[in-house]
Amino acid sequence: MLEETWIVASFCLVPLAISVALWYRYALPRIPKPFLRFPYLEELAPTGVTISWITRKATTGALRISSVGADDLYFESRRLGRHHSFRIDGLHPDTVHSYQVIINAKSTVDNLHFKTIPLQETECHFFALADSGSGKRPQYRIAARIEEWLNHDPFEFGLHLGDISYSRTSTPDEDREYFRPYHRILCRVPIWLALGNHDVDYGKTVNHLAFHRMPGNKRWYSLDYGRIHVTVLDSTRWNSTSQREWLERDLRNHQDVQWKIVVLHHPPYCRPYIREGVLQPGSHIEIRNLWCPLFEQYGVDLVLSGHSHTYQRTRRIRDYCPGGKGIVYVIAGGGGERIDTVAEEIDTPGLMEAWLGGRYHFVRLKITNEQLAIMAVDDRGRVFDEFSLDRPST
Ligand SMILES: [Fe+2]
Repeated sequence: MLEETWIVASFCLVPLAISVALWYRYALPRIPKPFLRFPYLEELAPTGVTISWITRKATTGALRISSVGADDLYFESRRLGRHHSFRIDGLHPDTVHSYQVIINAKSTVDNLHFKTIPLQETECHFFALADSGSGKRPQYRIAARIEEWLNHDPFEFGLHLGDISYSRTSTPDEDREYFRPYHRILCRVPIWLALGNHDVDYGKTVNHLAFHRMPGNKRWYSLDYGRIHVTVLDSTRWNSTSQREWLERDLRNHQDVQWKIVVLHHPPYCRPYIREGVLQPGSHIEIRNLWCPLFEQYGVDLVLSGHSHTYQRTRRIRDYCPGGKGIVYVIAGGGGERIDTVAEEIDTPGLMEAWLGGRYHFVRLKITNEQLAIMAVDDRGRVFDEFSLDRPST
């Protein structure tokens, strides 16, 4: 009797459990029709931007751009297709523009905004995240927290510190891993991408190009946001002589900007961490020895990384020691893939000032002429670390 009851219960409970699991897995925010990929921004510049989208069925597409004090700009493609992309040039720097997406002659998305890059301004607000490309709920929770900030204190752009895609094939699943979770962000701000190890695994090579067009040689490049210079490196090719030469040139040519930020996936300074019960070493010593002297020589202020799925922040470091005018290194690896815990300090004694494992997060950075402030925010919107670097005005 007991056995029969157990068999009947199994017949009922197993499908129920499967249904709940499927709902949990797939009942994630959807992209509004008629889009397969919601409109997104890329190649933002002082006088231009690229706006693209993909529809589920072949349509015509058009775009109207408006800004205060200027005539509306109108672009259209009468050719039927699913992929639509418009490059817009001739805009004014540091100006908020609204845009309207028109599908099959009907306005479909209205009142979205973007702001062109300023030429001289130093004030800037942006976010950074890494190790996100799981397509699972934690990634959506982080996206929702970023959206909340966008609604009351807008970001101007985002930086992805690598591991955009975790798919174990030669092609990423762009919509599941990136465009769908971030669709309400990407229609308002562009995200610039750094390559992580998962982005070059399984023959993906320059995987990030499946997501966005990248400047420079695509793997390493830099961008200027007013008087802030961001240098993005490919740490999967840390031993490339041409990359090191480019890095030195890039930093030397931007010595007089107000703030210098370097982005690379593998952290030069990192406490060991535990992933799925296995201790991982943390710091990437070869990268530290090869690149950090250049960062110090040319006055880099902040280095942002991921790879370890933890949050970590060093004291200011110079010559491998805590020092008054040194560089702060931040790891923000809690973007959505399985989270790690922080282990005992081994090769970074006294260098770390803040660390937290086991919590999904992103960081927001607010920069003025005098100060660079960074805030770590978790997937429930709680701020769990804050610090700032001060600099006298120049
Ligand atoms: Fe990684």
